[in-house]
Amino acid sequence: MKITFYGQNTLALKIGEINVLVDPFITGNDLAKDKVDINELKADYILLTHAHQDHTLDAEAIAKNTGAIIVSNFEIANHYEAKGFEVHPMNHGGSWDFEFGNVKYVNAIHTSSFPDGSYGGQPGGFVIEGEHKNIYIAGDTALCMDMKLIPMQTELDLAVLPIGDNFTMGVDDAIIASDFIECDKILGCHYDTFGYIEIDHEEAKRKFYEKGKDLMLLEIGESIEL
Ligand code: NI
Ligand code: MN
Repeated sequence: MKITFYGQNTLALKIGEINVLVDPFITGNDLAKDKVDINELKADYILLTHAHQDHTLDAEAIAKNTGAIIVSNFEIANHYEAKGFEVHPMNHGGSWDFEFGNVKYVNAIHTSSFPDGSYGGQPGGFVIEGEHKNIYIAGDTALCMDMKLIPMQTELDLAVLPIGDNFTMGVDDAIIASDFIECDKILGCHYDTFGYIEIDHEEAKRKFYEKGKDLMLLEIGESIEL
């Protein structure tokens, strides 16, 4: 599984021959918009954790370009289906075997309105089991006890956790989250994009390192292979 970071919570997963894009927010991200051309992004599926603009802004344009199927909670899926897009609705605790692997929509503690204020259901995260690798994409969330449910079913190879604080967990809570999910290999997301969530990279990495954990902070467009 190849994972490319495009800023905020935007991730491109290449699982076998299938391209899965998560939470596309590029044209509105000053850190990413000059580095990434959304017209060049490939997507067979677009997974949306919740409706906030910093997770959904470019979903329509990319789905139009690619014909990707939008996977999200029931309300977000309905929103895009009404606009003519192909969707796969899910809800919390449910999982589905897609062609690239199994996806479970798991709990997150956050909110989920669309930019116009309309209801975007409840926010979530995804546990993806594909190509013999298992990853957890937490989405925007507080630290919560429900994270302890994940390792009861899935041995994670990587977790993508928000670390920017203010709107989500910060570094200290993300370290506790990594204990809850029993995964010491963490890719940080949801930091630096706005003033509220700017972080000290070296301090964040050091805090994880001191707990015996590995925090990766990728450049925009940088990839890792699992
Ligand atoms: Ni959000
Ligand atoms: Mn967000």
